[in-house]
Amino acid sequence: MEFTAKGRGRRAIWIALVAAALAGLLLAGARAGAQAPEVVSAPANLSWQATIAPADEPGERLVVSGQVFAPDGTTPVAGITVYAYHTDATGHYTKTGALRPPRLQGWAKTDGEGRFEFHTIRPAAYPGRTIPAHVHFILWGAGYPRQWTDELRFEGDPFVTREMMAEAPGAGKFAAVVPLQRGADGALDCTINFRVRTVSNFKD
Ligand SMILES: [Fe+2]
Repeated sequence: MEFTAKGRGRRAIWIALVAAALAGLLLAGARAGAQAPEVVSAPANLSWQATIAPADEPGERLVVSGQVFAPDGTTPVAGITVYAYHTDATGHYTKTGALRPPRLQGWAKTDGEGRFEFHTIRPAAYPGRTIPAHVHFILWGAGYPRQWTDELRFEGDPFVTREMMAEAPGAGKFAAVVPLQRGADGALDCTINFRVRTVSNFKD
């Protein structure tokens, strides 16, 4: 009897310890999500159109537009916050050399058709590296968790490899290596679409 009671007691302690550890992990995860700098810094009252780089930012003007779709790939999702950031025309995220917070960043919220549009400049590749110039995106909201998307890269970039290009047509409207077109206003235009995930791909 005494042995069984002890066993039960130990089991109860183990269960309590495991429960406490799980609760701690959940709490840490929730805190990491809530404290994500792009979430904390997101301005209130977002529009589907946003400006990342002001008119006096050096570089070639670029308009990045697109749509966010549900996991089915066809239903547009309204109310998704789209956070975008990229390097400047010298390939740097900040003036100090730090990576974050990026100097060129912006937030849009998808409209009823899932659309977003960013007015910015064409980013440059990291200096001295062979990584293609790119734009990072993080999405969240409308019931979907905070998540990374594929990086936007540009056709014709000298660092876009044959493998990257081979992937692009296969991805159809979700291709992340996209052509640049010159608009009537002289700015470059490109389009990238996203299929939102139901499970976050953040590691924190
Ligand atoms: Fe980057």
